[in-house]
Amino acid sequence: MMAYDAWKQLAAAAAVKLVQDGMVVGLGTGSTATFMVHALAQRIQEGLHIVGAVASSQASKDLAAQLGIPLTDLDSHPELDLYIDGADEIDPQLRLLKGGGGALLREKILATSAKRFVVIADNSKRVLQLGQNFPVPVEIVPFALAPVRKRLEALEAVVSVRKRGDGTFITENGNIILDCAFPNAVANPEEMDARMHSIVGVIETGFFLHLAQQVIIGGPDGVTILPFVV
Ligand code: 5RP
Repeated sequence: MMAYDAWKQLAAAAAVKLVQDGMVVGLGTGSTATFMVHALAQRIQEGLHIVGAVASSQASKDLAAQLGIPLTDLDSHPELDLYIDGADEIDPQLRLLKGGGGALLREKILATSAKRFVVIADNSKRVLQLGQNFPVPVEIVPFALAPVRKRLEALEAVVSVRKRGDGTFITENGNIILDCAFPNAVANPEEMDARMHSIVGVIETGFFLHLAQQVIIGGPDGVTILPFVV
């Protein structure tokens, strides 16, 4: 197993310890979240009784179902007790960039519907500035592609339509994603997020700002929990 996978697994195992009997839990998407779903299933096998889990993607839902995790939805439980998910980038203020897996909209719906949002990641995800290593994914209405693209380019983004194989990537909400690269990263994520949201046709961005209460990082020295609480 690659070191990064072992570190993701460490973070996932630590986060799953936060799940308690009677909780409604949100499941993130991606490779780190996949480790978390496995660890949660293990705890359930050992006797943990959650009310149910709400998944942020079909992949996480299928995996959870396959592993025997009871599933529910936002209609039945509009408020989650805990949402656990990975991230592509985490800055020192615990602001995040997400959406590498294309599930950003449902992920943000779950993150903002949870009493507590805990992020799990390996230590390669820590950055000084968001946009440093990954483009900012922006989910948009397909009809608005050309004008939205022009407006994002006016924000100095290098824009590309996300692909899957030879075709365009379509999100689980029937939309498309524009990946916005910023060669000098994003100095002011709040301002950039607000500007992107002001473009009609933009549905959601991969900026997750001031949403995470806690970040659990796995690395060569074990697990680090941010913010560091003494
Ligand atoms: C999916 C996401 C993921 O959480 C993010 O891409 C991190 O993925 P991984 O755990 O595989 O590194 O936002 O939309």
